[in-house]
Amino acid sequence: MRRKLVIGNWKMHGDHAALAQLLDSLRHSLSALSNTDVAVCPPFVYLAAARQQLIGSVIALGAQNLCAEAKGAFTGEISAAMLRDCGCRYVIVGHSERRQLFHENDALVAAKTAAALQANLTPIVCVGETLQQRETGATLGVIEAQLTAVFARLDSADIQRIVIAYEPVWAIGSGKTATPAQAQEVHAFIRRQLTIVLPDAATVPILYGGSVKADNATTLFAQPDIDGGLIGGASLNAEEFAAICKAAE
Ligand code: PGA
Repeated sequence: MRRKLVIGNWKMHGDHAALAQLLDSLRHSLSALSNTDVAVCPPFVYLAAARQQLIGSVIALGAQNLCAEAKGAFTGEISAAMLRDCGCRYVIVGHSERRQLFHENDALVAAKTAAALQANLTPIVCVGETLQQRETGATLGVIEAQLTAVFARLDSADIQRIVIAYEPVWAIGSGKTATPAQAQEVHAFIRRQLTIVLPDAATVPILYGGSVKADNATTLFAQPDIDGGLIGGASLNAEEFAAICKAAE
């Protein structure tokens, strides 16, 4: 059986004091989890403080982005090895906000995924369609193209080490969650795409993201191919995020 995985994506929110308080609550409320892995992804500048605070906790650390290059003259960028050095286990790659607002294309997302794996980070590779793409029946084609670009850069041993997050763009931060059936349909499709490139597609976690809250998490996580969640807004509220993690258990 796959373990469940819940990742909190804090995006560009908070400050030292607020994030320390959030982590303090989460450490206490999540200490008894046994079937669920949990990680939080603070902004880069708070990674070191979060790492200190998470010593001895079940909560792992992740980053929200990375540079595809290993090192060099890339002012303002952060490499995979630096993230690893700062205690990260995960890194989010190809979030729709990066694709849309910072013009990251499939090739760059694939390169970042490869860079993360090279440094022994687990990339959480985000895929998802816009509302217009859904309404014109293009959803599965869009997902297939996004996945194919990543798979083309990796061998099967590497693909086995990634996490995929299905995040319909229209559901992110909008309060409109995909129905469990809509999400499961795409998750099952992603699982079939994995079967084409992997001998054991069953072990790759596929997370759902997009307006997951405590009150819809249980039915989403009960779907056969939904292995947990990538949580934005609700991950900034300790009680709400803890309830989502417990729903995964
Ligand atoms: P949301 O964000 O939970 O606020 O919709 C999800 C995400 O962006 O990963």
